[in-house]
Amino acid sequence: MTIHWRFGAGRATESKRRLIFALDVDSTAEAEALIDALLPEVGVFKVGKQLFLHAGPAIVRRIRERGGEVFLDLKFHDIPRTVAKAGVEAARLGVKMFDVHASGSDEMMRVTVAEVRRACRREALRRPKILAVTVLTSLSRDDLKRVGVMAGVENQVVRLARLAKESAMDGVVASPHEIATIRKACGRSLTIVTPGVRPPRADWDDQKRVMTPEQAIRAGADYLVVGKPIRDAKDPVQAARAIVADMERGFGGLTLRSAVERT
Ligand code: C5P
Repeated sequence: MTIHWRFGAGRATESKRRLIFALDVDSTAEAEALIDALLPEVGVFKVGKQLFLHAGPAIVRRIRERGGEVFLDLKFHDIPRTVAKAGVEAARLGVKMFDVHASGSDEMMRVTVAEVRRACRREALRRPKILAVTVLTSLSRDDLKRVGVMAGVENQVVRLARLAKESAMDGVVASPHEIATIRKACGRSLTIVTPGVRPPRADWDDQKRVMTPEQAIRAGADYLVVGKPIRDAKDPVQAARAIVADMERGFGGLTLRSAVERT
């Protein structure tokens, strides 16, 4: 198991490294202003479908040129070869992580992991973490039933997280309330990236199943994804700092052993 906890750097640096800011904006100028302001404050910028379709791969290259890390959140779901090729392009862009839908099948995940590994070896690229989306947090038990999935949300999340692990995926994207169940089913080696995080006392608007950063870290999340509370804050830098401070409190509550075991 890789140990990423950097003892010398301390908790603040480690918390920062594990904060992913969702760059959900529709203008390159706005994205660039946020990137410049938040580069020293967050570890990773998440580029999703909206910004990627607006600004293209250039926005990923720009973040990389400025020294930032990228989570390319395009949630690939297609035949195995197509997803694998998309994954190779993501690796060529230099992203730190990208995601696919676990429901695309174990073969789709396996082929993608293998192809990306091969390309990274061949082209001397850094290998991105490949994450699996299990069940979107917007889906209810009834939504699943209507598309023919009778298992219920939690069972389906566990089933897909296990499938992802067996397919050699690096981790999963999971809501805060799924972390404990996934850890129990899949152990500590799976990286868990968690959206649905809100700072204490914030207006918990459209995220029904939220936790504070401290709670999510204590629950076992490795990376937190936060968008709105930083983006819409009067002072995004202060908002990011407050979240990092809350994450530090979460790490403070962990034993050294459980902290070093995180990926
Ligand atoms: O709400 P917020 O802006 O913090 O969301 C950050 C990111 O988390 C968004 O880009 C969204 O894609 C993702 N998200 C999610 N599940 C939710 C809500 C948001 O994956 N229930």
